[in-house]
Amino acid sequence: MGTINPDAIPKIVLNNGQVVPCIGMGTFGSDRFTAEQVSDAVYGAIKAGYRMFDCAACYGNEAMIGDVFQQAFRDGLCKREDLFIMTKAWNDMHGDGDILIALAKSLKDLKLDYVDMYFLHWPFPNYHAPHCDVDSRTPDSKPFAVERFMKTWRQLERLVDMGLAKGIGMSSMTIPKLEAVLPLCRIKPAMCEFEEHPCFQQEEVFNYLRGHGIQPVGFMPLGSPQRPERDMEAGDIADMKTPIMQEIAAAHNCHPALICLKWAVQRGAIPIPFSVWEAEYTSNLGSTIDGDPLTEEEMAKIKTLEANNRLVKGQVFLWPGAKDWHDLWDEDGVIVQ
Ligand SMILES: NC(=O)c1ccc[n+]([C@@H]2O[C@H](COP(=O)([O-])OP(=O)(O)OC[C@H]3O[C@@H](n4cnc5c(N)ncnc54)[C@H](OP(=O)(O)O)[C@@H]3O)[C@@H](O)[C@H]2O)c1
Repeated sequence: MGTINPDAIPKIVLNNGQVVPCIGMGTFGSDRFTAEQVSDAVYGAIKAGYRMFDCAACYGNEAMIGDVFQQAFRDGLCKREDLFIMTKAWNDMHGDGDILIALAKSLKDLKLDYVDMYFLHWPFPNYHAPHCDVDSRTPDSKPFAVERFMKTWRQLERLVDMGLAKGIGMSSMTIPKLEAVLPLCRIKPAMCEFEEHPCFQQEEVFNYLRGHGIQPVGFMPLGSPQRPERDMEAGDIADMKTPIMQEIAAAHNCHPALICLKWAVQRGAIPIPFSVWEAEYTSNLGSTIDGDPLTEEEMAKIKTLEANNRLVKGQVFLWPGAKDWHDLWDEDGVIVQ
C-alpha cells in the first residue's frame, strides 16, 4: 500500500492561525475494534501519510495510541510538530478544576506535553458508563445551562493560556447553544465537531459555523456502518448504499466511501473517517487528491440525499423531566431546559 506525501494533502487555516490537513482519522473503535487494532491503524495511518488524529478519553485507547505516536517518532516517520492531535474531555469532567485533570490524563496517556486541539466532547455534564445501552439514565443528569457551560469553557481557555492546548473546540452544539455562548467566549472555538454524512448534512449548523469562522469537523462521515448496536435503529439509512452514492461512485470508479469524503471536503468540512483496514484508511486519505473532484451536478445530487438521519441521538444524556432525545437538539430554535 502506497504512502501519500502529507505535504500534498490540501490544508485549511483555522481562526487561530493553526494550519491543518483537510482530512483526519477517527479513533473510536465503536466497541467493535480493540485498542490494539485502533492503535495499530494509527501507526499505519501515520506511515500512509495522515497527520491529523481525532482521539477522546472516552474511547479507552489513548494509552495505546500514545505508544504508537512514540514509536512513530522513534522510527522517524514524523516529528511531534508534524502531527495535529485532537482529544476531548468527557462529560463527567465538566466540574470546577476537572478540565485540567482531564487533559492531564489524556496528555499522560498520549505521552505528549500539549495537544493541538482540545474539545469539550458534549455540552452536557452528564456521565454515562461506557457501553451502556440507550435506556440508561443517570439520575443527577442536568440539561444544558449557559452559566455551567461557560464555567467549563473558561477552564478550556486557561489550557490555551498555559500552552497545554494550542486550540480549543466544541462538539455536538446546536445553533441556539452557539448563539448563547459564543459572545461570552474569551477564546472562541477554532473547530466544532458535528455529525455529518450525506443523509444528515446539518446545513444550517454547517453554515452557521462557517459564518462564524469556526471550522466544521464532520464525524461519522461515512454514516458509521460499524457504529455500536445502541446507535442503530430500524429506518436508519445506509448513506453509502443509496442509489445516488452508488451511481456517483461508479462514475468515479471508486468506493462510495471516497465520494462521501470528497463531498465533505469540497463542502469545506474536515471529515475524520475511521478504519482499521490499511486499504480503506489509505484510500480515504487519497480521496482528497486522487481522481476527479465531484462536479457541481454531483454535489447537487448529494444535497438531495438529506434525510435528517441523525445516528447519534444522545439518549443517554437526557435529564429527569426531558421528553426524549429531540430535547437535546433544540429543534424549535430555543434551548430546551
Ligand atoms: N465528537 C463526537 O461526539 C464524535 C462522535 C462520533 C464519532 N466521532 C469521531 O468520528 C470518527 C468517525 O466516525 P465513525 O468511526 O463512527 O464512522 P465513519 O468514519 O463514518 O465509519 C467508519 C466505518 O466505515 C467503514 N469504512 C471506512 N473507510 C472505508 C472505505 N474506504 N471503504 C469502505 N468502508 C469504509 C469501516 O467499516 P468496515 O470495518 O466495515 O470496513 C469503518 O469502521 C470516530 O472514529 C471518532 O473519532 C466523534
